[in-house]
Amino acid sequence: MVYQIYPRSFADSDGDGVGDLPGVVAHLDHLSALGVDVVWLSPAYRSPMDDNGYDISDYTDIDPLFGTLADLDALIAGLHSRGMKLVMDLVVNHTSDEHPWFVDSRDVSSPKRDWYIWRPARQGHEPGTPGAEPTNWGSFFSGPAWQFDPASGQYYLHLFSAKQPDLNWENPAVRHAVHDMMRWWVDRGVDGFRMDVINLISKTYPLVDGPVNGPGGLCYDPSMVVEGPRLHEFLRELNQEVGIDDRELFSVGEMILVDVEQARSHTAADAHEVGMVFTFEHMSIDAGASGTKWDVVPLHLPALKANLAQWQEGLADEGWNSLYFENHDQPRSVSRFGDDSPEFRVASAKTLATTLHLLKGTPYVYQGQELGMTNAGFTAIEQYNDLESTRFFAEASAAGGDPAQLLGAIAFKSRDNGRTPMQWDASPQAGFTTGEPWLRVTPNHDTVNAAAAIADPGSVFHHYRALIDLRHQLEVVRQGRFALLLPDDEHLFCFTRTLGDEALLVVANWSSSPVPLPAGLPSLAGAEVLLGTHAFSPGDDLAAWESRIYRLA
Ligand code: NOJ
Repeated sequence: MVYQIYPRSFADSDGDGVGDLPGVVAHLDHLSALGVDVVWLSPAYRSPMDDNGYDISDYTDIDPLFGTLADLDALIAGLHSRGMKLVMDLVVNHTSDEHPWFVDSRDVSSPKRDWYIWRPARQGHEPGTPGAEPTNWGSFFSGPAWQFDPASGQYYLHLFSAKQPDLNWENPAVRHAVHDMMRWWVDRGVDGFRMDVINLISKTYPLVDGPVNGPGGLCYDPSMVVEGPRLHEFLRELNQEVGIDDRELFSVGEMILVDVEQARSHTAADAHEVGMVFTFEHMSIDAGASGTKWDVVPLHLPALKANLAQWQEGLADEGWNSLYFENHDQPRSVSRFGDDSPEFRVASAKTLATTLHLLKGTPYVYQGQELGMTNAGFTAIEQYNDLESTRFFAEASAAGGDPAQLLGAIAFKSRDNGRTPMQWDASPQAGFTTGEPWLRVTPNHDTVNAAAAIADPGSVFHHYRALIDLRHQLEVVRQGRFALLLPDDEHLFCFTRTLGDEALLVVANWSSSPVPLPAGLPSLAGAEVLLGTHAFSPGDDLAAWESRIYRLA
């Protein structure tokens, strides 16, 4: 399994309030105790930190906020000596606008001009005036996806913030520079890459307007920019040039809007592209009709089950699944899909984990998920740091949105929910820092913290540990075939995993009320319980948020 570290929020070694690499090194035993195989480190490169490091100004250096290259080497050595691997975040759809490539590119006569995507103003419009942008695309972070550059009178494309200009992957020199940089990291000892929004790198030319579906007459339709015609070619080339397959490196591509068929085409062994992809489909199950993440509707469990089952079945024979409920862009799953009340937080965090870890694929655990960390509980926009949340609030309230309603949606879905400091202990700043943390520590750290969890055999942490151990022990967990049971049941998530004559049954109550064991399950005669969240006798009802893993006779 893969454990994701968001370095800014993991552990601060020098008291400046921001997590750093020595902080990570100091906690490697926590990862070993959990059973982690691979660590994915969110960006720690040199960056102006407009998007907390997803805006890189030097791909081959560590930002002083996080430490030095020597600290990174120490992290690699510390992980390797404990039998773990290190996967770096690869952010190459865009750079920072402060990257020397882009600084050069601002000069129209520079050979680097063509390394980014520059366009003149829309015909008949005065450059730099509203509506003169070359296309009507909205950026993922609100507002137009084009920034006017007065010096050259042209615009550059930025699908994210204006400080994240998109690279022009059509230019072979750009691709070679990326391959060189990746080889440099592999030679330094890293074991693979998580590829940020990698299905945006090939644009569909010519760049044209899309249907208007957002404020300001903009088109917020990612289908305009994903899966461009050269994506397969670029990924194959990168795989070959860097030796992803040849050197058996780890690779996972983050892919917006990717569907099962596309995922199969990118991850099949003979594609030689990436090992697996991150889909977003199951992360959109609780979005309302508008489809935006801020339009939240209650989870309908049958819809989530149907989606996960579709991915399980679609990649059963070819390709491979990534399994995740959380990362640094998502709220905490126990607050989103579980029940984070004191009564059910532990049980629901465990049952979400049982479900995810018994699917086929590679499970990802985001820092603090193994403790059942909850959403941040912020109530004022000033408490947020994330540019996606603050920009959405500014844009939507300027357009007449009700601030209280907007704050409610942000409190539920903001990326900052997953970015509050890791809760190590019950001390005032949760053992994260001796200084003032960059983002407020969640008040429940007095009870929800690693020290308490490790000391309590019934904690969420020990359930994660047991699940990870089960996967390491049992081939049927790693390779068994998945079959969904009771697809329409609104409370229970039940499925089998089978390999040869071995069969597991997973029964998980995704509700805050007890539920009787339903008819329609395979016979439990002679079944052995491998792992459960509660003590029970055979035939007992399932308690609220109870889950059991049976080995069938
Ligand atoms: C996806 C990353 O996960 C997110 O945090 C970031 O803001 C965007 N890509 C832009 O790099």
